[in-house]
Amino acid sequence: MRKLLIAGNWKMHGSQSQVRSLIEGIHQGTRNCISIDIFILPTYVHLMLAQQLLQSSAIKLGAQNLYPGSQGAFTGEVSGPMLADIGCQYVLVGHSERRTLFHEDLSSVAAKFKAAVEAGLQPILCVGETRLEREQDKTEQVIAAQLQSVVEEAGAQAFQQAVIAYEPVWAIGTGLTATPSQAQDAHDFIRHFIAKNNVDLANTIRILYGGSMKMENAASLLAMPDIDGGLIGGASLDSVQFSKICEIAQCIK
Ligand code: PGA
Repeated sequence: MRKLLIAGNWKMHGSQSQVRSLIEGIHQGTRNCISIDIFILPTYVHLMLAQQLLQSSAIKLGAQNLYPGSQGAFTGEVSGPMLADIGCQYVLVGHSERRTLFHEDLSSVAAKFKAAVEAGLQPILCVGETRLEREQDKTEQVIAAQLQSVVEEAGAQAFQQAVIAYEPVWAIGTGLTATPSQAQDAHDFIRHFIAKNNVDLANTIRILYGGSMKMENAASLLAMPDIDGGLIGGASLDSVQFSKICEIAQCIK
């Protein structure tokens, strides 16, 4: 049985006071959510503050990005070992905003995945198709290429330490959500892809759905057999919404 995981991707939002009140609200709202995993992904500059506020909390911390090297002359970048050193356990890799706005290609995403694993972090590998790719019936082809490039760089076993997030690009921040059956089909495809290399791993790896998940649609998505949690953007900036999604996850499986 896979433990559900609910993650809040705060993107480039927040001030110190908002971080304090958001974490306080999530603590209050998720008191009873003891059988799921919860983590938050603040900006780099808020990680230390969040880490202090989460001490002795079951809520875990992650970062939104990393540089694939441990240290050196890479002005403005942050490495995996640095994130691990300040208490991060997770790091997003290949989020569609990074792939599109910051031109991260398949090989740079794969290098980041490998660097995260080497630093002892759990990468959350984001995969998903654009609207055009879906219309052209290329969803599976796109997801397969995104997964395959990581397998080639890091090896299939590196997924032991990873989480995958299926995030259809057309659903991120748009208010559009994949229907539960569209999402289930993609999750099933991803699980079968992993099973080609390792059946046991395919059964245990957690595959999150992301793309306008909110309290109104969380129950129907999380009820799908291959959806093991959510990667929440917009709704994670509201502690009531986010906590409600965690409560739904707590009750559902
Ligand atoms: P959204 O973002 O929930 O605002 O669509 C999800 C994500 O980008 O991970």
